[in-house]
This record gives sequence, C-alpha cells and structure tokens, in this order.
Amino acid sequence: MISANYFPLTCNSTRISIIGAGKVGSTTAQRIAEKNIANVILLDIIEGWPQGIALDLMQARGVEHHDREIIGTNNYDDTAGSEIVVIAAGMPRKPNMSRNDLIKINAKIVVEAAKEAIARSPQAILIIVTNPLDVMTYLAWENTGLPPNRVMGMAGVLDSSRFQNFIAMELGISVADIKATVLGSHGDLMVPLPRYSTVNGIPLTDIMDTETIEHLVERTRNGGAEIVKLMQTGSAYFAPASAVSVMIESILLNQSRLLPCCAYLQGEYGLEDIFLGVPCRLGCRGVEKIFELDLTDMERIAFMDSAELIRQNIEEAKAILR
Ligand code: APR
Repeated sequence: MISANYFPLTCNSTRISIIGAGKVGSTTAQRIAEKNIANVILLDIIEGWPQGIALDLMQARGVEHHDREIIGTNNYDDTAGSEIVVIAAGMPRKPNMSRNDLIKINAKIVVEAAKEAIARSPQAILIIVTNPLDVMTYLAWENTGLPPNRVMGMAGVLDSSRFQNFIAMELGISVADIKATVLGSHGDLMVPLPRYSTVNGIPLTDIMDTETIEHLVERTRNGGAEIVKLMQTGSAYFAPASAVSVMIESILLNQSRLLPCCAYLQGEYGLEDIFLGVPCRLGCRGVEKIFELDLTDMERIAFMDSAELIRQNIEEAKAILR
C-alpha cells in the first residue's frame, strides 16, 4: 500500500486536500489528477477506504499518463501544506429528503473537518461541497476564522451547467455555445436567470419561448432531486465533481474566471453576513471580486427569498451546534 509519506516529486508539488473520499470526493480527485492540476490528498473517516481509492487512481496512471500523486489517508496531519481544501464529507441526500434534512447530520462533520484541515493548512482556500451548501459554507467560514475571500461553496457552477445542458438539449446546439447564469441558494429557491443566459451571444429570451424557458428553469431547480429519485441510494457526483474542479483550476492557475460561487456578501445585493450564490472572479486569492447584476423586481424577490431561507437554516444549524 502506498503510504502517506510517499511523495517523491519535488516539482509539481502543489497539493490539494479533499475531505470525504466518497463519490463526489473521489471523482473530484480523479478530475484534478487527470487534468494534471495538482497532487491530491484524499481523507476519509473510514479506514482503508481513501487509501484504496487513491491506489486505484494511481494504478490508472499507466493509461492516463499523468504524474500526479493521489494519497489516501485517515490522518489530518497528512493534509498539511495544502493550497486548497475541499470538503465533501457527510451524507448525500436520499429520496424524499431535502438538503435541509441533512443539516443535522452534516453540520458537525463539516465544522470539524474544516477546523482540522485549516489547522494544518492555515493559508489554504476552502471550498465546501457538502449540502446544504450555503449553510455549510457559512459554518465552515465562521468556525475557521478564515477571511471571507478564502471560503466559498460550490453550487452555482453546477446549477449553471445543468441549465446549460438542458438548454443545449432543447435547442440541439452544442453546449459549448451556451452560457447560463444561476444565482441564489443551491436548492429549491435557486434563481436561474434566463435574461443573463445566452446562445453564442444571443439572449436566450430571444430564441426560446417563455413556456419552454420556464420548463427548463424548473428542471434545473430540480436537477439534483431528479437524479436522487432515479438513483435511490445516493445523489449526483459526476457533474458536482466537474464543477468543483473548474473552481480549483481557476484558483490554482489564477485564471480569473467569472464563475457563480457561494460567496460571503458584505453589502452586495443589499445583503450582509450571508453566503449566497453570486458571480465571482476566482483567482489565486480566492473570491477576488463579486459582481452585482441588475435584477428585475421578480428576480430580486426570488433572490431575497433564497437569502431568507438560508438565514433561517443558518440559525437552525447554529442551534444544533450549540
Ligand atoms: N470525516 C471524514 N469523512 C467523512 C466524515 C468525517 N467526519 N463523515 C463522513 N465522511 C465520509 C464518508 O465516509 C463518505 O466516504 O464522507 C463520504 C461521503 O461520501 P458519499 O456518501 O459517497 O457522498 P457523496 O455523494 O460523495 O456526497 C458528499 O457532497 O454533493 C454533496 O449532498 C452531497 O453532502 C453530500 C456530499
């Protein structure tokens, strides 16, 4: 078995840690290693599990031809010196379970994981994936004391990708030509914005009728639930892993991409002290800038409803942790 001490590369030494080597965590590790972005430390509470996943991913290198290291561990000390920490530990949704039902289970797991990992990598940027996303991101930020620009949640990239995919399927046009924007919470009250979605620069609202757009918006809102219902014993992981990989890439390679992320608001959109999905410039300093879009009255109301629900859930989560 490859031990956590096995780290022979002196160059290519950028390392990220992924806490939770389940479906999302291990698929993210695969994406990061196979895109040759960074070495990956995979940590899980189950002994042997992350070590097995890591070894399996390493054994693919003869075919995938990358030289990235993937190390499995149960010990936080092995995560020391990570540039990015991703938290994907916790339980996924089951059928008829809302993301909020997960608060009780996942709040403690995420807070502990964030504190343990950041204690070993105090300079790291923290990306939360565990649901309910907006609440978990707030808790991780509050309990680590990291500056807000170094804490974010992955949801908007995933929700936008889902919307882009449904638009592409409907129009029969390559998804490469579709851009879509989704703001707000990662859940039933997310705010897909057709007005800010385009097909190779053409506003979506100019080439698709309102009824069809509404249908696709609704399918996007239920994008995760639709998969949970089909799978029965777990939730989505391929698209979530792709989405978090894009965020990691933009940070580590300082790409300054404009991506919707769950970020800390300090007056933007008239909101304070809350993490919510907004367009962000993601670079080596994390969330480097938040962009405020002009919203119609309807869009603003939907965004505020989203914020209100998150605030209630944050209070609920704080009460659980007390
Ligand atoms: N510390 C470390 N790992 C933990 C802990 C803990 N305290 N508690 C649970 N885990 C691990 C589990 O052992 C498991 O391997 O987290 C992993 C979760 O993996 P899955 O059950 O496969 O769940 P997954 O589909 O990966 O989803 C993880 O991401 O998208 C969200 O809603 C999803 O909250 C869920 C999270």
